[in-house]
Amino acid sequence: MANRISLNGTSYHGAGAIQEIVPEMKARGFHKAFVASDPDLVKFGVTAKVTDLLDAAQIPFTLYSDIKPNPTIANVQHGVEAFKASGADCIIAIGGGSSMDTSKAIGIIITNPDFADVRSLEGVAPTKNPCVPIIAVPTTAGTAAEVTINYVITDVEKERKFVCVDTHDMPIIAVVDPEMMSSMPKGLTACTGMDALTHAIEGYTTKGAWEMTDMFHLEAIRLIAENLRDAVANTKKGREGMALGQYIAGMGFSNVGLGIDHSMAHTLSAHYDTPHGMACAMFLPITMEFNRDYTGTKYREIARAMGVKGVDEMTQEEYRDAAIAAVKQLSKDVGIPEKNDRIREEDLDQLATDALNDACYPGNPREATKEQVIEMFRQLM
Ligand SMILES: NC(=O)c1ccc[n+]([C@@H]2O[C@H](COP(=O)([O-])OP(=O)(O)OC[C@H]3O[C@@H](n4cnc5c(N)ncnc54)[C@H](O)[C@@H]3O)[C@@H](O)[C@H]2O)c1
Ligand SMILES: [Fe+2]
Repeated sequence: MANRISLNGTSYHGAGAIQEIVPEMKARGFHKAFVASDPDLVKFGVTAKVTDLLDAAQIPFTLYSDIKPNPTIANVQHGVEAFKASGADCIIAIGGGSSMDTSKAIGIIITNPDFADVRSLEGVAPTKNPCVPIIAVPTTAGTAAEVTINYVITDVEKERKFVCVDTHDMPIIAVVDPEMMSSMPKGLTACTGMDALTHAIEGYTTKGAWEMTDMFHLEAIRLIAENLRDAVANTKKGREGMALGQYIAGMGFSNVGLGIDHSMAHTLSAHYDTPHGMACAMFLPITMEFNRDYTGTKYREIARAMGVKGVDEMTQEEYRDAAIAAVKQLSKDVGIPEKNDRIREEDLDQLATDALNDACYPGNPREATKEQVIEMFRQLM
């Protein structure tokens, strides 16, 4: 089977990139925007950085900010109604993965109303039409939803998150402006940055990885390892490096998939509302250890990209240890906790079942038994 690469059509990078939104809207003949953001971003004035530009250009918009982290089916359905009432012809998604993912689901259902129940979008959905045009403006440096063909929705009733994979959801424009990310507090910067590192490492070691995605993932690991500590310290260089690193990771993993780390992270978030990036980061050394013998020489390249010296002189065991140690050190330096005290012994069986049913699991280079998955959850207790 041929390898497929799907990327978003136009993207802008660098400080001040949001200035391109108005000219793009005019050039594409959009008349009214549905601005999808979340309440905190509105409160902290992050959303206004973009809506002020629309106001100045007298472009009408409806602000929809009823989006919660780890968005739910109800969030999406409510958003669909709000979009219909707005009379808008495009969506400007301003926020992290939650705002961008909700926008994708809204945009897909508007043009593919057969999927209005939302649940039927799980996995690779046979939608017929591209979603409403989305201009995606990430405010976190992590999910890369602005360049991925994925979105993730929480099914509250069934206590699970489900992943939707659909090229029809790709934003037409990504505006990756590090100044939109500079208001992130340290903890959020760390978690979302570690999400991006997990994308790059899982994407690099996933079953479907190939030369072109390896290129994206290794460069993403290098950029993230070099810049995440600085981004947590809120330097300009750190923010710019992370904005780019997370996007490049998205160019890769969106096309080849992830692995068991994301399946367990989705499960943890669905059961205990753990922030996505924190869940990914806590599992990363554990899943890297689990996969180590199924990765050929890849951990040598991960260690090199993480900045480890002398990897060519190391034995296989040494460079595998070094890659895992470098990830652990970065996680520690940016303040990711090692334990999650909400996991209960009686939940373990269900957690493992859900993780093995998650859409990311089949990409993992090593198959896992339920007992092995339980053991990995237990390591966080
Ligand atoms: N589509 C994809 O490919 C993809 C990939 C990975 C994860 N996800 C999903 O994305 C969601 C997580 O997204 P996220 O980690 O970006 O966080 P998020 O969108 O859930 O936001 C988390 C919190 O951070 C705040 N925040 C965001 N940007 C800020 C800023 N600049 N300043 C201050 N506060 C800010 C928000 O207001 C919110 O309260 C999860 O649901 C996850 O499953 C999607
Ligand atoms: Fe992720």
